[in-house]
Amino acid sequence: MQESDLSAVMINENNAYEFPCSLSNMSNNQKRYYCVVFEAGVESNSPGEILGHAILSTVADEASVINIAVSPKAQRQRIGYQLMENILQHAQDKGCVEVFLEVRESNRPAFTMYHQFGFNEVGVRHNYYPSKQGREDAILLASYL
Ligand SMILES: CC(C)(COP(=O)(O)OP(=O)(O)OC[C@H]1O[C@@H](n2cnc3c(N)ncnc32)[C@H](O)[C@@H]1OP(=O)(O)O)[C@@H](O)C(=O)NCCC(=O)NCCS
Repeated sequence: MQESDLSAVMINENNAYEFPCSLSNMSNNQKRYYCVVFEAGVESNSPGEILGHAILSTVADEASVINIAVSPKAQRQRIGYQLMENILQHAQDKGCVEVFLEVRESNRPAFTMYHQFGFNEVGVRHNYYPSKQGREDAILLASYL
C-alpha cells in the first residue's frame, strides 16, 4: 500500500465495513505498519482496482492484525485468504512467534477464515465495537506462527 493508494483503499474500507476507520487513521497506519493491497488482475473488468487491503503491526516477537478487508463484490474468491498468507509470512520473516487480532462476536465469515489459519479464542473485550444495537464484544484471537 502506497500513500497514493489511500483514496482507493478508503473506498474498499467504506464498502467492506459498516463502521469503517477514518482516512486519517488509515493514513497513520500506512505510515507506521506493514500494509498490503490486493489489486484486480489484468484479465478482470477493472485491472488495478484495489479489491482488498490488510494491515499488520509487529512489536518484538508479537504481531497484530490491525485490519483486513475485501470488497463485498470480490468476497469468497480467496482474496482474504491470500492477504492473510501475505501478512502472516511477513510476521514470520520479522521473527514473530505469535499473532493476535480482534473480531466482532457476530463476524462469522472472519471467524471461519481465522480458524483456517489456526487462530483460537484467548479473550473478550466487552462492548469494544460500536454496533447498530449499541455496542458489541470483541473476541481476541491468537495463533502461533
Ligand atoms: C473476512 C473477509 C476478509 C474474508 O475475505 P474473503 O476474501 O471473502 O474470504 P476468502 O474467500 O479468502 O475465504 C477464506 C475462507 O474464509 C471462510 N469464509 C469467508 N467468507 C465466508 C462466509 N461469508 N461464510 C462462511 N465462511 C466464509 C471460508 O472458510 C473460506 O474458505 P473456503 O473458500 O475454502 O470456504 C471478508 O469477508 C471481509 O472483508 N469482510 C468485511 C470486513 C471484515 O469483517 N474484516 C475482518 C475484520 S476482523
